[in-house]
Amino acid sequence: MLMILTWVLLKSVTREPPRSHVPYPAAPEATPARVINVSSIGNFFFSPEGGFRVDDLSAEKHYGYYERYGSSKLANILFTRELGRREYDDGNHVVSYSLHPGAIASTNLSRHTSFGAVWDLLVVLFWKKGGFSVLRRETFKTIPQGAATTIVAALDSFVPPSAHLADCQLSDAVHHSASVELQEKLWKVSEEMIASVVSQ
Ligand SMILES: *[C@@H]1O[C@H](CO)[C@@H](O)[C@H](O)[C@H]1NC(C)=O
Ligand SMILES: *[C@@H]1O[C@H](CO)[C@@H](O)[C@H](O)[C@H]1NC(C)=O
Repeated sequence: MLMILTWVLLKSVTREPPRSHVPYPAAPEATPARVINVSSIGNFFFSPEGGFRVDDLSAEKHYGYYERYGSSKLANILFTRELGRREYDDGNHVVSYSLHPGAIASTNLSRHTSFGAVWDLLVVLFWKKGGFSVLRRETFKTIPQGAATTIVAALDSFVPPSAHLADCQLSDAVHHSASVELQEKLWKVSEEMIASVVSQ
């Protein structure tokens, strides 16, 4: 569904004839359009060891809720980088960013989280290398603080194309997110899934 949105949006965003590669920081009139994917630090902890179950996107063979969350947050980053390669590197006027907005407690998003789910979270973090140290560094943000990184991605002209951000800075993501093979696979399988809809 979301990729269909990109598909539709990109048509209008790239309606201008493609220009040559725009150097950064770009002059305002040459500022490319931006696609921002809100990921999460969960890309580090919860995505599966092997990277991504491209052959089981609908979780018909295997399901674990934190793992699926991690996979979807990894997918945000894989998508961002593949889109960047396809659009920005090709000289089109689109850059893409992914980001971790922070832990924002006051949104009520976690109001249905059970004790069991919190326990499972602690177990995952315990077994994951560096899990607890990251949890300690991760202080809760207010809603405006939580919006800040997205705003940097949307407006700051010094952020390099396809960057991943956290705390308004450039940030690492799980190493699988750099796999060009995975980026391409996810793109291809997404295209196949929506082919019947977009060809109408
Ligand atoms: C990334 O963001 C775009 C724009 O909102 C959306 O269309 C696309 O589906 C997102 N990609 C993923 C993998 O969530
Ligand atoms: C969260 O839920 C409580 C209780 O329903 C409500 O009073 C509060 O306004 C909600 N907060 C937000 C940010 O929606």
